[in-house]
Amino acid sequence: MLRMTSNRDLLARSLSAVWHPCTQMKRHETLPLVPIARGEGAWLVDFDGKRYLDTVSSWWVNLFGHCNPRINAALVDQLGKLEHVMLAGFTHEPVVQLSEKLRALAPAGLGHCFYGSDGASATEIALKMSAHYWRNSGQPQKFEFISLQNSYHGETLGALSVTDVALFRDAYGALIKQNATVPSPDWRAAEVGESAEDFALRCADALEAHLQQHHARLAAFIVEPLIQGAAGMAMYHPIYLQRARALCSQYGVHLIADEIAVGMGRTGTMFACEQAGISPDFLLISKGITGGYLPLSIVMTTAAIFQAFYADETARGFLHSHSYTGNPLACRAALATLDIFEQDDVLNTNRDKAAFFNRIAQPLREHPKVRNFRHTGMVWAFEVDTPHADFAQRCFSLGLQHELLLRPMGNTVYFMPPYIISEAEMQMLVARTLHILEMLT
Ligand SMILES: Cc1ncc(COP(=O)(O)O)c(C=O)c1O
Repeated sequence: MLRMTSNRDLLARSLSAVWHPCTQMKRHETLPLVPIARGEGAWLVDFDGKRYLDTVSSWWVNLFGHCNPRINAALVDQLGKLEHVMLAGFTHEPVVQLSEKLRALAPAGLGHCFYGSDGASATEIALKMSAHYWRNSGQPQKFEFISLQNSYHGETLGALSVTDVALFRDAYGALIKQNATVPSPDWRAAEVGESAEDFALRCADALEAHLQQHHARLAAFIVEPLIQGAAGMAMYHPIYLQRARALCSQYGVHLIADEIAVGMGRTGTMFACEQAGISPDFLLISKGITGGYLPLSIVMTTAAIFQAFYADETARGFLHSHSYTGNPLACRAALATLDIFEQDDVLNTNRDKAAFFNRIAQPLREHPKVRNFRHTGMVWAFEVDTPHADFAQRCFSLGLQHELLLRPMGNTVYFMPPYIISEAEMQMLVARTLHILEMLT
C-alpha cells in the first residue's frame, strides 16, 4: 500500500531508490526533483497543493488531461474483464477493435498492426521488419538505414543507430551500427531569402543523390514527419515528404514514418503524413495513442510487407515479441482516446484553439529576443537570445516558480500542451512565459 507522504519525504526516498531517466543524477544535489501527488486536467499538483501547468504534455503523451474521467471509466470497465493475456496464439476484443479503427484512420494501405510497448520498441520492430522483408524477398544485402540529421527515434540500440543526437549516442558508439544521415529540411537552416519549400526541395535532392548511390544496400529511410521533436521542434515543409515518398518508391527503399510524437492529431491532422498526401510503408504510433495513460506502440504496415512473411517456414515469420504486446488495458485506453477524438470533434476544435493561441502569442512572436517563432498544429516553438549558458535549467526553474512546467531544449522553448488546455490557461501560459523571458534575456 502507498504510504501518506510529503514533498520532502518523497524527494529523499526517490533520490535514494529511483534512478531517473535522461538525467545526470548529481544535478539533483542542486536542482530538486518535482514531486507530483496527482493530476487534474492540464495540471500536475504536488503534496502541498502547488500546481504546474503541464505545457509539455508529460513528454508529449497526454492529450485529454490527467485523470480524464472518460479514459478512467474505460479502464475501470476493462479491469473487470481482462487485464492481460499474451498476444501470441491469443487475441482479445480491445486489440482487434483498435487495429480495425486504426486501419480506417491511417493513410491508405496500412492494414496490418503489429504491437509493441514504448516508442523505441516500435522503431526496433520497423527496422527489423524492413530488413527481414528484404531478406525474405531475396535481397539480404539490403539491411542499412538512413535518417535525417538531428533525427531522434528512441534510445534502445537499434533506435540509436538511426538517432543523430551525439549526447545520447556517443557513450554507446561501439555498440551501435553506423547508419548514414541525410540533410534535414528544418527550415531554420535555409539560406536567407530561400523559402521553406525551396529548402525542403534542396534537401530532397540530397536524399535523391544518396539513394541513387546506396539504394542497393538500403532497407529503409526513417523520418519524423513535419516536426523533428528532439531536434528542438524543427519544422519543415510537407513537400519534403512527398518527394521522399516518390524517391523511396523509385529506388526500392521502404519509407518509415515515425509518428510516435507527431501522430494523434499533434500536427493538426490525425497523422502528419496526411498533410503531404502520402502513405508510408511503415507508420509508427505511440505516446498519445493511449491519451498518455499506458505504454503502447503500434507499427502499421502494408499487405505487401505482411505477405512477404506469410509462409510455411516458421523462420520467415516475424518472431519478435514483448511480454505486454497488445496489452488489453492499454488498447482500451487507446480506444477511449479515439472515442474522444470522434465525440468532441477534436481536430476541428484544435484548429480553433491553435488560431486563438497564435493570436494571443503575438507579443511572444514579436519579442526582440525571440527568434524563429514557429507553429504546426498544437506545437509551438522559438529560440531565445540569452546571455545564460544554462538557459534551459533557469527557464525550467523559473517556470516552476510561476506554475508552469516548461522544459526547453537548449535555448529552444516549446509548448506542446494537452488538447484540453483552456483559453484562460493559454493566456496565463503566454503572459508568464513573457515574464520569464524578461528575467532571462
Ligand atoms: C519521434 C520519436 N520517436 C521515438 C521516440 C521514442 O519513444 P519512447 O520514449 O516511448 O521510447 C520518441 C520519444 O520522444 C520520439 O519523439
